Amino acid sequence: MSASLPFGCCIAGVGAYVPERVLTNAELESLVETSDEWITSRTGIKERRMAAADEYTSDLGARAAIAALADAGVSATDVDLIIVATITPDMPFPATACLVQQKIGAARAAAFDLEAACTGFIYALEVARQFIQSGTYQTALIIGAEKLSSIIDWEDRNTCVLFGDGAGAAVLRRCPTGRGVRSVRLGSDGTKADILSMPGGGSRCPATEQSVRSRAHYLRMEGKEVFKSAVAAMCGAAREAMALAQVDIGAIGCVIPHQANRRIIDAVGERLGVAPDQVFVNLHKYGNTSAASVAVALQEAVAGGRVRRGDLVLMVAFGAGLTWGAAVLEW
Ligand code: UT7
Repeated sequence: MSASLPFGCCIAGVGAYVPERVLTNAELESLVETSDEWITSRTGIKERRMAAADEYTSDLGARAAIAALADAGVSATDVDLIIVATITPDMPFPATACLVQQKIGAARAAAFDLEAACTGFIYALEVARQFIQSGTYQTALIIGAEKLSSIIDWEDRNTCVLFGDGAGAAVLRRCPTGRGVRSVRLGSDGTKADILSMPGGGSRCPATEQSVRSRAHYLRMEGKEVFKSAVAAMCGAAREAMALAQVDIGAIGCVIPHQANRRIIDAVGERLGVAPDQVFVNLHKYGNTSAASVAVALQEAVAGGRVRRGDLVLMVAFGAGLTWGAAVLEW
């Protein structure tokens, strides 16, 4: 537990990058049988960003990382550790974190990827803070980056309207104990692995003509099942993280939830008893960007003055695995 560790861990800077190309609900109407009305009322999403054909997850991650380093006033050569959370790595190996390491010139950094789907950024926060609080490293860069457009089945209206591309990053640094990250709670439930997955491309279903024909290399989701688990898991993780940090919901200045569906965000906010204006939402602009979602939202909340120095922030996410996690931090 953090209290027995010699150091604290603070977020020293944040950065985000989303690709220029905007894909609107109206454009999706010409791709699949859907409507702006359906997408808006069922999800809250109005548009999302699409990376260019020659723009990869490592490019998105590197741009967010450079912005976070500038925000923190930290040089890339001071970074000891890079963790990239993603479900859309540039390739199965080497790690996208190594490609980011090269692109930003972080010559001294250890680098690896972490896969916890939409909870990836909070998992990365917890892993990196253990290295910092134990004294192993002083400076870590955590990045949530996704090119989800590369694994979307553009013929499946159940999923193709939901996701977008983007990246967010944070620089973590050693600080006095008691400040910065107050608590993190993580969880998982592999019994529900099948409700949200990409079955092809791994050891169970390597790429073959048949796997391509059966569309196994695309994301598949049983939306309703995921929805039901999401609300309960996010509320549970949030309550546990607040209990661990010994704060109650009234003390939280801003809640930064995973941006998957407006109805999920509203249900979580309602159950936790937070006022709607305390909950940060940018889902309408970007859709669900999986591991990038909380990271991009955090950057926008800080840049927009929704999170100020001294505020308590609650981040909470949920995703494939299933995985979930929540963190309380003092900004
Ligand atoms: O990031 C982590 C995980 N992801 C999530 O958290 C996503 C969780 N799930 C959801 O957000 C929602 O379940 C969805 C937005 C995916 C779906 O909303 P829903 O209210 O659960 O709808 P549904 O799946 O029950 O579908 C209702 C109807 C169906 O038609 P029938 O069977 O009732 O005739 C679907 O075929 O809506 C139909 N539908 C669509 N209609 C127009 C599904 N997708 C579309 C679409 N446009 N894009």
